Amino acid sequence: MKFFLDTASLDEITEAVSWGAVAGVTTNPTLYAKIGGKLQDFEQHIKKICSLVPGPVSAEVDAADAQSMIAQGRALAALADNVAVKVPMTLSGLAATRALANEGIEVNMTLVFSVPQAIMAARAGARFVSPFVGRFDDIAEDGIEQLANIVAALHNYDFRDVGPKGQSIEVIAASIRNPNHVTQAALLGADIATVPFGVLKKCAEHPLTTNGLAAFAADWEKVKQA
Ligand code: E4P
Repeated sequence: MKFFLDTASLDEITEAVSWGAVAGVTTNPTLYAKIGGKLQDFEQHIKKICSLVPGPVSAEVDAADAQSMIAQGRALAALADNVAVKVPMTLSGLAATRALANEGIEVNMTLVFSVPQAIMAARAGARFVSPFVGRFDDIAEDGIEQLANIVAALHNYDFRDVGPKGQSIEVIAASIRNPNHVTQAALLGADIATVPFGVLKKCAEHPLTTNGLAAFAADWEKVKQA
């Protein structure tokens, strides 16, 4: 499984890329607003992210109708070779995805919560589909079970004939809130997990690693004093 970083922060991206863990980035307007982003700087910001990341950078359209989504998608895709246009799962979003995929532009279809939605996204030519895990947990339902169903259903078929460049669709486990979500996503075969910086950091930690380091340091002290 690959990790994408779910952020708009250049500092977080730079640090996580240095760990070798980041294969892409996903952003959304909430994350951009969190770092004080202004609409007029959005395109330059995406360009900076694209230059830091060795893989796809999902940048979201904010239009609701298909024609505006297509126009925004084209403009975003023109910013850098590694932009994937993030489009919401609506009928307009499906039409925009089909049109953008026909032009060879990669789309990440977001806000996906069911198997039929994921299959519709794949048929429209989405390069990535993003089932949300944590949003199910928010309403006391099992997001991991939904993700498992989507991964299993998509793996039954080969969508290379409908993808933008003859590539099959990849599943991005999104709305990941903790390392247990990462564990479950990897066990059920999600291609990618997009995770916030704090969660990615926690993925490198374990209490026994911390204890082991303390014991190692104490042993070295004994050796030095012997
Ligand atoms: C990524 O593409 C999604 O926008 C993100 O993972 C959503 O996470 P949230 O449910 O924590 O807002």
